[in-house]
Amino acid sequence: MKRVYSGIRATGRLHLGNYFGAVKGMLALQDSYDCVFSVVDLHTITIPYDPKTLKQSVREIIIDYLTAGLDPKKCHLEIQSTVLQHVELAYLLSTIYQVSRLEDLPTYKEKKIQYPKYVNMGLLYYPVLMAADILLYKAELVPVGIDQEPHIEVAREIARKFNSMFGQTFPQPQRFKTEGDYVPSLVGAGKMSKSISGSFINLTDDLETIRKRLAGAPTDSGVIGGELPKTGGTANLFALLRLFKLDKECIKFEQDYKAKKIRYSELKEALAKTIFKELQPFQAKRKEFENNPTLVDSIIEEGQIKCSRMAEETMKEVRLKMGLV
Ligand code: TRP
Repeated sequence: MKRVYSGIRATGRLHLGNYFGAVKGMLALQDSYDCVFSVVDLHTITIPYDPKTLKQSVREIIIDYLTAGLDPKKCHLEIQSTVLQHVELAYLLSTIYQVSRLEDLPTYKEKKIQYPKYVNMGLLYYPVLMAADILLYKAELVPVGIDQEPHIEVAREIARKFNSMFGQTFPQPQRFKTEGDYVPSLVGAGKMSKSISGSFINLTDDLETIRKRLAGAPTDSGVIGGELPKTGGTANLFALLRLFKLDKECIKFEQDYKAKKIRYSELKEALAKTIFKELQPFQAKRKEFENNPTLVDSIIEEGQIKCSRMAEETMKEVRLKMGLV
């Protein structure tokens, strides 16, 4: 059975971008593949974070995973830092990869601009650790958003290099495309991202919060009428209408836009109501896990034990092939 690996960083709770970009793909895969789904807390700490709340945030994401329908009977749930082999493999793989290539990669370039005073080694190392995450489990499919493609390419390059230097060991992982891949940010360009405040809607948000978040979403000023813009605030709101299958509304608001009589408050209200309706069953189910902490503890522990066992198998092979044992 083909192995699948994916991870989400633990900065706050899951939002709509994670759900459409990653979790939906995970749900589709858990029935047919051997899946490991992770909370990548070691990646989380490459940007400024609060050590007092990190552990709780990690747990919240595990609960979000369970609530969204990831089933520990069908897949392995992992907290990255509890499987020590990730770090060991990342270090070993770093010795066969070029520094210059890492400086060109998206997370490093983005975060350097976002946190100019926090440009650390871990950030540069980010794609190597990510390659290690995937290769540790010899995963062939990786359900993540399109923005992660350059990182998956690094994982492939590292796999090829390792295989050619030390003998066939790793498969070359491919990105698994999920439907509705791209959820635009509520503020300006790019995608919904936990590390950009105001850009996202959490799966746990209530109607009032969703309304407030949407109210903050910019619309294009001045350029009203004519064809719909392809980028910017208005384009993003229309993309959200389509993502939530509000097709009739989409046509209506497009006509309004062309006729220069669009009312964004009306559009945002339609969107808020629909998003909240979609999230309601999720929120009810989440309470069940919140009220049963021992169940969550045992799921986390079981994941740790099974994942460590799988990881150690790969590491035995890697240490041997690299001549360390
Ligand atoms: N870089 C990924 C993101 O920001 C998170 C991640 C870390 C990941 N390790 C991974 C995703 C391994 C898939 C596989 O979304």
